Amino acid sequence: MLQKNDTPGIAELFESDPGREQDFRLRQSDWELDYSRIPLERAGLTSLHTLTESAGLGAAVARLFAGESVNTSERQPALHMALRAEEGSSFGPGADMATLLRQRQRFMDLAARLHDGSSGLTDLLHIGIGGSDLGPRLVADALNADDSAVRVHWLSTLDGRRFERLCRELDPATTGMVMASKSFSTEETMTQARAARQWLGEGWAKRAWAATANAGRAEEFGVPADHVLEFPSFVGGRYSLWSSVGVSAAARIGPERFRRLLAGAERADREFARSEQDPSMAVVLALLMHYLRRDLDLNTLGVVSYEPRLALLAGHLQQLVMESLGKGVDLDDRPLDVPTAPLIYGGRGTDLQHSIFQALHQGRDTHPLLLVGSLRDRHAYPEWHQAQYAHLLAQARAFANGRSDGEIYQNMPGNRPVATLIVDELDSDNLGWLLASLEHAVYALSVLWGINAFDQWGVEEGKRLAAEIRSRLQSGT
Ligand code: F6P
Repeated sequence: MLQKNDTPGIAELFESDPGREQDFRLRQSDWELDYSRIPLERAGLTSLHTLTESAGLGAAVARLFAGESVNTSERQPALHMALRAEEGSSFGPGADMATLLRQRQRFMDLAARLHDGSSGLTDLLHIGIGGSDLGPRLVADALNADDSAVRVHWLSTLDGRRFERLCRELDPATTGMVMASKSFSTEETMTQARAARQWLGEGWAKRAWAATANAGRAEEFGVPADHVLEFPSFVGGRYSLWSSVGVSAAARIGPERFRRLLAGAERADREFARSEQDPSMAVVLALLMHYLRRDLDLNTLGVVSYEPRLALLAGHLQQLVMESLGKGVDLDDRPLDVPTAPLIYGGRGTDLQHSIFQALHQGRDTHPLLLVGSLRDRHAYPEWHQAQYAHLLAQARAFANGRSDGEIYQNMPGNRPVATLIVDELDSDNLGWLLASLEHAVYALSVLWGINAFDQWGVEEGKRLAAEIRSRLQSGT
């Protein structure tokens, strides 16, 4: 039984409410969210919106933008918005806009030299993991126009075979590296950085940069001070693609596209800051995720991109949602007895139709989906893009309506919650807007749930145990 509450099925909701298809959608900044196939009645939607008032979302948003310590366990603000803010913006005493703008200009200057070839480099190793990899890699992939002088190679988890191959294929004399690590202490990143430093050889430091909040460690590693691209410690890893962690992406797509990415994000910030007046996409997404998780008790969310340029969106969202909302205690350190983060999974649209969609259509479990796509893209095969869009629409219909006119083994129950998020044509501005809106949706949901979206203590124990085991392996015990 899908409904934990007594909401009618999707097909019944459409039959009884002719205006549903038109009203259960939101269009903002080139994006259109259609949530009419989420089994939610109008009264339920209204009551969801009242949740934001009872949770004090307006005040929480004000605290976020005022630079208050919303990251309670680490007593830090969370000011990723400052990374894309315009001159003259203010986020409280903790954020010095002049410093942030200077830091931005420094990594953008490097990106410009890498992009136009004046750096003399043909290849760039971007060494980073988690938020120091996923967001930048998504941006570089989505906005890549093959007009850069530099190829970026993304090194995250330890893969000796791939590293060997890169060392065979690339020329150390024309290869640089960006060590992206907020802490500048993550094992995977530092292990590969040491190996790359050795491979780059004599004069490596002239072709190496550190994107970090820990300049001291970077300089101890041997990175010259003027090659340390700092960002502030009040930016969380999964929220850091807008900082110097994004320098490799900016080198690949070009500083102009990266600036438009920042501008789109800044616009989403302004909309979210005033979302009490008119609900932003961020708030609507948060309410829908709350409804799916808490009211329908569904503990997964599939993010499937039918826009091939957003193939990496699910990977970025996995960390953004699960590292932010995968918590077990509330802001007052009281253990929670209600569910929090769903399992986020996903990937590319029709690929997944040939792997997991069978279970999603006919399996006994209900897995809600967010299908992401675009109306068009500029390439020589517009009919391929149209096919992708047709598949997206077809799957939305099939998951919602199911099938009952076949043999029993052919039929599908339908009534599977599915939302679609479609952009007219993906570009730097509307991608920045979407990614920032998703950050704010996660924050809004953390407010509804009374949890800290900005720490990640749960990853520490694994690291500690691995270090202990590694030292015992090395000592042969
Ligand atoms: O997974 C834990 C984590 O700290 C993430 O939050 C972060 O993005 C990643 O590891 C990498 O951390 P750093 O940027 O400090 O190397």
